[in-house]
Amino acid sequence: MTILVTGATGKVGRNVVAQLLDTGRPVRAISRSPQRAGLPEDVEVLHADFARPESLHTALREVEKVFLFPSATGLRDFTAAASHAEVRHIVLLSSTVPGYDKPNPISEAHLAHERDVQDSGLPWTFVRPGGFMSNDLNWAATIKTQGVVRDPFGDAGVALIDERDIAAVAVTALIDDAHIGRTHEITGPHALTAIERIRILGQAIGRRLRFERQSSAEFTEQVTNEGYPAQYAEAVLEFGAYFDGRSGPVYPAVEHITGRPPHTYADWAAHHAPYFR
Ligand SMILES: NC(=O)c1ccc[n+]([C@@H]2O[C@H](COP(=O)([O-])OP(=O)(O)OC[C@H]3O[C@@H](n4cnc5c(N)ncnc54)[C@H](OP(=O)(O)O)[C@@H]3O)[C@@H](O)[C@H]2O)c1
Repeated sequence: MTILVTGATGKVGRNVVAQLLDTGRPVRAISRSPQRAGLPEDVEVLHADFARPESLHTALREVEKVFLFPSATGLRDFTAAASHAEVRHIVLLSSTVPGYDKPNPISEAHLAHERDVQDSGLPWTFVRPGGFMSNDLNWAATIKTQGVVRDPFGDAGVALIDERDIAAVAVTALIDDAHIGRTHEITGPHALTAIERIRILGQAIGRRLRFERQSSAEFTEQVTNEGYPAQYAEAVLEFGAYFDGRSGPVYPAVEHITGRPPHTYADWAAHHAPYFR
């Protein structure tokens, strides 16, 4: 039976697809633009949209397991369709900010997704990564043009995680029923500040980079110009301020679950160096 990957063209989903193919299992992916998905030939790519429930029924036909992307449109239509199909395990991409328990709109949205999946009555696993290393791709434009990174917090130590490791945990859960009913909080291997990450990125591209502190107002303007709600900027500023001058926790879960240590930031920087040159 097939494994369905939603969010398959995203940073995590592409890695889930690639790692599932390596196990030899049949993989189906959905995208709103299948012709532009750019996924490997062995993957069956179907058109589907979380916002269009009728498109989900075909996508779920003969599907046994699902990697579920936390769509901003909500997951109730998807879980309703999945409960009428033959799905017997959903692995949900969720979220946490390790060491930060204050509710905010981002964590509330992810908890609502988890509740929707639980309410469906289908067996589930929740994968809760902290911040992604790929968030630092937002620095690429000013690194390329000016050799500078502007960020409100230079000294907030966070153990960002490589999206390949998030995918590896999800794939392990998809192929091993022992993960049913479990919530996995995962981080990268080291808590690093922005200033430390900028130094590592500079080494990866062979260029000396500078850090400049950005005001909260400039950050909010930048984030809203990129199309995110102001509430999102507020939440990021709040937990950035909380961690400024301290280090968030590092969890050993990736290695425990996958049997391999997580990628370091230097690994990630070397892999993504072309984006910063
Ligand atoms: N960034 C972080 O630090 C962080 C930390 C923890 C959790 N998260 C969560 O991780 C998620 C982002 O993951 P990512 O970076 O892998 O995603 P991404 O690169 O932004 O890709 C988004 C994916 O979602 C699919 N998608 C979006 N809307 C859709 C819809 N209406 N119907 C069907 N597919 C839809 C897109 O597919 P098509 O465009 O092909 O249709 C695409 O594959 C967010 O929900 C975020 O909250 C992020």
